[in-house]
Parts: sequence; C-alpha cells; structure tokens
Amino acid sequence: MCGIVGYIGPKEKKSILLDGLQELEYRGYDSAGFAVISGGKLSHFKAVGKLANLRKKAADFTSEGPGAAIGHTRWATHGKPTELNAHPHMGAFSYVVHNGIIENYRPLKEELEAQGVRFLSQTDTEVIVHLFEQKIREGLEPFEAFRATIGRLEGAYAILLISEAAPETIFFAKNGSPLLIALDGEEIYFASSDTAVIGKAQEAYYLEDGEYGYARPGEVRLYRPDDEPKALTTIPLPSDKAMAQKDGYRFFMEKEIYEQSTVIGDTILGRVLDEGIEFEELPDGFFDGIASITICACGTSYHAGLTGAYLLERMARIPCRVEIASEFRYKEPLLSPDTLFVTISQSGETADTLEALKMAKRAGLRSLTICNVDNSSIVRESDAAILTRAGIEKGVASTKAFATQVMVLWMLTLHLGQKRGTLESATIRREIDAMRRSPSALLVEEKLHERIHRLSKRYLHGHGFFFIGRDLFFPLALEGALKLKEISYLHAEGYPAGEMKHGPIALADAELFTIALMPRTLLYDKIKSNVEELSARDATILAISPEEFELADDFIRTKHAEHPMLEFFEMMVVTQLLAMEIAIRLGNDVDMPRNLAKSVTVE
Ligand code: G6P
Repeated sequence: MCGIVGYIGPKEKKSILLDGLQELEYRGYDSAGFAVISGGKLSHFKAVGKLANLRKKAADFTSEGPGAAIGHTRWATHGKPTELNAHPHMGAFSYVVHNGIIENYRPLKEELEAQGVRFLSQTDTEVIVHLFEQKIREGLEPFEAFRATIGRLEGAYAILLISEAAPETIFFAKNGSPLLIALDGEEIYFASSDTAVIGKAQEAYYLEDGEYGYARPGEVRLYRPDDEPKALTTIPLPSDKAMAQKDGYRFFMEKEIYEQSTVIGDTILGRVLDEGIEFEELPDGFFDGIASITICACGTSYHAGLTGAYLLERMARIPCRVEIASEFRYKEPLLSPDTLFVTISQSGETADTLEALKMAKRAGLRSLTICNVDNSSIVRESDAAILTRAGIEKGVASTKAFATQVMVLWMLTLHLGQKRGTLESATIRREIDAMRRSPSALLVEEKLHERIHRLSKRYLHGHGFFFIGRDLFFPLALEGALKLKEISYLHAEGYPAGEMKHGPIALADAELFTIALMPRTLLYDKIKSNVEELSARDATILAISPEEFELADDFIRTKHAEHPMLEFFEMMVVTQLLAMEIAIRLGNDVDMPRNLAKSVTVE
C-alpha cells in the first residue's frame, strides 16, 4: 500500500528519497513526506497529493554530508489524507515512517495522552514516535528505547525511525509489511519494495517478520524476534524494474490475486475484535432510525453489493435492495429517509454511482460508502465511509477490491446484526472465527494455480460459458463470468443455477461450458441437481467444489468447506485464476483489456 524509503550516507538525501518514492508511485498514494537528520539537525517536509507538490515544497532544501533520511508515500487508512496525517510523524526530537496498521494504537494513545503527550494526527502511526521518546525520557539508550517500543506494538508494520538522540542512525523493524535493506559500500538504503533501490545498490536483505535493528554508516545490526543477533546475508537485487513492480508476477492482476490474502488481513485489522465488529470511522448512532438499506454500484462493485444483500437480509434481518447505478438514476425510485443509501466503489469516482448518491442525498437519505480511495469524490460526498484497504488496484479487471468490498459487507452485516439483536452470541463467535480464517481461504496454492493453468487449455473456444451458483454463489457466478469476459473476450454469463431450466438450458450441448460453483455449506443438494440437469444435456461441466462430483468433465477440489464465506473466497480465487489463465493463453493483455477503463468518470 504505502511506500517507504530510507538512506544513510553522505549523498544529497532529498533527491535519493524523492527518486526512490517516485519509483514506488505505482503503488498509489495520496500524500507524501520525508525527514532528514544531518549535522545533528532534523528537517521535514510533507505535502498532500502528488510527489511534485513535495518536490516544490522542498525545492530550496539540500542535505549533503553525513546523515540519515526517511521518506514515505501514504495511502490513507486511518485518518484523512491531510498534511498532518502524512508521514513522517514527529515527536519532540524524532521522526517515524510506517506501513501497516498498529492494531492496539487506541489503548497506547490513551496511555500516552494520560502522561501528557499531545497528538497531532489521527493516525495509528504517531503512537510509535511518542512511545519511543517516552522511553528515552525514562532514561533508556536509544536502541533499547526502540526495542521496548516495538515490543508494545500489535498489528502489522514496517518502521523506520530517526532521532536526534542517535544522529546518523536509522532504527528499523518489520512485522507483516515488507521491508528490505540494500547496501552500496558504506551507504545503506531501506525500502518497502526493491523497485525503489534498483540501480542504486547491488545487494539486499529482505527482512523477515519480527526482525528489527539499527543501521549506521557502514554498519547494520540485525536482531531476530527472540532478540538474538542475526548475520545480514544479502542477495543480489533484481535488475528489471518492471518485473520488480509486479513483485515478479507476470501481470498486476496476478499479483493482486495473490495479494488478496494479505489485504483482507488489513481490511479486518482493528475492526474484527473478540467481542464483535467495530467501525471507529462511523459516528455514534449512525444506524439509528434506519429501517432498510439500498445498495448502489456498478460492475464488480455491484456484484459485491448483491453478495452483501444476501448477508444483510439473512443475518442482520434488514430489508436490502441492490441497484445498478446507471439504472437507478433514471427509474424515478421511491426513496424514504429511513433508508440507508450504501454506495460501493473501488475508485470512488464512478460517475453513475456518484450521481446516484447525490440523488439519494437530495431525497434526504443518510449515506455510507464502501470505498478503496480516501478523499475520492464519493467518499467526500458521503456522510460516512468505510475504507476497504485493498491498496491501489492496477489491473483493470477488479480482484482484490472485490474481495475487500465483500469482506466489509460481511463485517457490516455482523455489526448491524449485533446492534439489532438478530444474532445469537454463538453465531457471532462463529462468524468472527470464520472472518479471521479468511486470509487462509484466499491464499493461492501453487498446486492449485498449476492445475488451473493446465485445465485452462480446454476452455479457449466453445459457444459460451455459464457460471452458475445459488444464493451467495449466484453473485459470485456473475463476477466469475464478468472476469472471464473482461479479459478473455469470450462470451460468459452468470446465472442462478435454479433458473437455467427456464430458458438457458436450451443452449446446452458439448460446446457449452458450465462452471458450477458447488459449495458444501449452502444448498449443495439443490445445485447438484441443477448441474445434473445440464450434464444430462451433454453440457461440458467444470465443477468447483469440496465434494467429488462424478458427472463433471473437470473438477477443482476446494478445501475450506467449514463456512459459506470461506467457500466463497476460495472459489472466487479459482474463478479469477481461471479467467486469467484463459486470457493469457489467448494472448490478451490481462492488465489492460481492450475497450475497458479502470475508472469510468463519464456517464
Ligand atoms: C469500471 C471498471 C470495473 C469496475 C467498475 C466500477 O467499469 O472497469 O472493474 O467494477 O468500473 O468501478 P468502481 O471504481 O466504482 O468500483
């Protein structure tokens, strides 16, 4: 998500940081900043928006000579994209940059505030620098203060910290978010991704979770999670920047499919708690007086909305309808002020969704958006926003944004169900447990990917694909079909399995490919008989299920059969990989399919 760069050495530090951050631009950001300690003196610059704004602000600043520097591009997750919330965050004599989320920042912040510390930002990150300085004030040596600080942190982080208490030193720590140290003689670089240092250094060490330490000119001290020292064994840095940007994957879409397991962890971090679901971004009483929900979105986000409606009605027992934004705008809908209007948008800029939102607001409805981009038009226009925290999505065909939207809707369901008293405590515990296991259902196993790759060669022709499913797996069927048509240009439709016999089954023959989503935990026998009907008409069937299905021509066995949502996420990954492998075999540009745009800002 965010980008980190650090440098220790005599060169002009501002340009090293800005150039490094520029290389990380592709990851998306909404503000940026850097801090330098040189000649024992600290300086910092921050700016909202593009790096050019930061360059302009720091135009007159130079910093040659021995020193250390840290820089950051921020993608807002806690607090708006403002200058105050941009990194580095400062205390009285130190600065910190951080990627990830400090899950226990609230109790830490309260503790520090009780000791008289004043906070400037709304971020979770700021606690790090204040904790560090409190430890120094308590008399600890700088490195011991840093060690004690990270010992208090829960959550995910990659951290760089500089301080007047230890000039020319960078303290670093990694847990869950990527961080590397790259070396060029006496000079030391840090980065969240190797693209930032390719061409500057030749070798690098990629930190493992729980590792931390400090670096000074020509010296890096690394410690393992059990506080034992560890030797720094570097490997050569890759030379191809484009490959490095894709983390070695062939396409951004592939990288984003693989990232889903991690970003879903970010989505639930600090929100899925033992006792229930909390959204600190929602004002108190936000749902008071709400009697129904209307969800409005386009494309993939609409499919997430359809999934959410099943969850909301079933578990939170609240009437919920879902509308395609371009249709909603002109249907002269009846809108009642006790309806919550929920928009879903990856970009936050989709024109139809934005206009539908404005209409709902004019009718006096309260609005909530589930969005991936803070400060986007839809976020600004809405009464409240829940950010999906997927990080920038480059592939035009949406994958990780969809996964995180669905996750937020599932969390919202539980949150509302608790408020409305529609859920037994055993159900709440079961759902929370399943939410926490979602990252593992989203992991891509090499064997599975290889199997899908092999199967894909049989699905490059035919007169059409039907993705079929029931209940929650109907919107997933719609989304699976959309993925396939977006990038393979093959005709594909998503259909409710029970509806096939009311028309589409007329198309069934050996050249009709049916992708059947057959979860164990939701209406298995029903979907099974629907697939049998198709098989009897000789349709070619690819069954995706934890249960062996003898009538299938091809079969992909899934593993997570203990909860419908875990089955949902696992099958989602299968359909995404299938679409991608078919498109690659057909020679298409997976990341930039013809005729499509990532963000559609016109009607
Ligand atoms: C475009 C994109 C789709 C996306 C849709 C809605 O059509 O190609 O991938 O689902 O817009 O975008 P949004 O940013 O509002 O989710």
